[in-house]
Amino acid sequence: MIVPGSNSQALGAALAAETGRSLADVRYERFPDGERMASTPGIDSAVHRAVVVASTTADTAYVELLQLQDAAREAGADELVTVLPYMRYGRQEHAFEHGQPVSARAVARAVSTGTDRVVLVNPHEASVTDFFDVPCAVVDAAPRLAAPLPANLTDPLFLSPDAGAVALAESARDAYGRGGVDFFQKVRHSGTEVEITPGDADVSGRDVIVVDDIVATGTTMSESVGLLTDRGADGVYVTCVHPLLARNARTKLERAGVSAIYGTDTIEREVTATSVAPTVADAL
Ligand code: R5P
Repeated sequence: MIVPGSNSQALGAALAAETGRSLADVRYERFPDGERMASTPGIDSAVHRAVVVASTTADTAYVELLQLQDAAREAGADELVTVLPYMRYGRQEHAFEHGQPVSARAVARAVSTGTDRVVLVNPHEASVTDFFDVPCAVVDAAPRLAAPLPANLTDPLFLSPDAGAVALAESARDAYGRGGVDFFQKVRHSGTEVEITPGDADVSGRDVIVVDDIVATGTTMSESVGLLTDRGADGVYVTCVHPLLARNARTKLERAGVSAIYGTDTIEREVTATSVAPTVADAL
């Protein structure tokens, strides 16, 4: 049985369809004092295997996730898999200064208490898997990024905004079936300031697809889109696994001249155009 968190209802349904498992009847309630209660009132006690799928796009989603794990156990599930399509705090994987927490480790330990194993979709740092006290698998959804792209792209170039994401650009290009791959160099000066240095590839008259694991504040992508537009790219498409699009990210991208934005359903947003369900299903 697939037990979705409130932020992963569409992905939960897609995963149920993909795997042929039933989709749990879940309720997300809130008490007058603000406390939450996520429950599965109709869960069948004959169900021994439960998959809780919950993106933690808000702090409260961790509480909801722990509640759903507990509810599934309480109902009799003796094997429980937790899928974190998007893991909030996953980018805080080390303490930068004395006295800071390793937040990714703290939340990973909490999640581990209620599950037999964990599946993550493209965590920013693969090392976060070590923080879980149960087996943790990583799946790569980058090939899914090809699906929503227009079929008739002109001489496409798949480009990552930094060297760390070039494997994602290669996977997306391979899945698309044609095109070149290049990457920019990026230096981050602050949470909302980055300096991008373009590569040598000639982008004039070409369609460029900028590929990254996440669009958070949109700073990285909007800087990249602006550079590519200035250098004569024809269309500039942005695609990512996790379309967080915090604050005014969408506006920044539109002002930079983006042709279209695509993301997966690890974070259910307006730009979600493809599902990671087939990729996750393979890991269950
Ligand atoms: C960083 O290395 C990541 O791959 C992303 O490029 C980054 O987290 C995106 O953040 P933002 O949208 O805030 O620039």
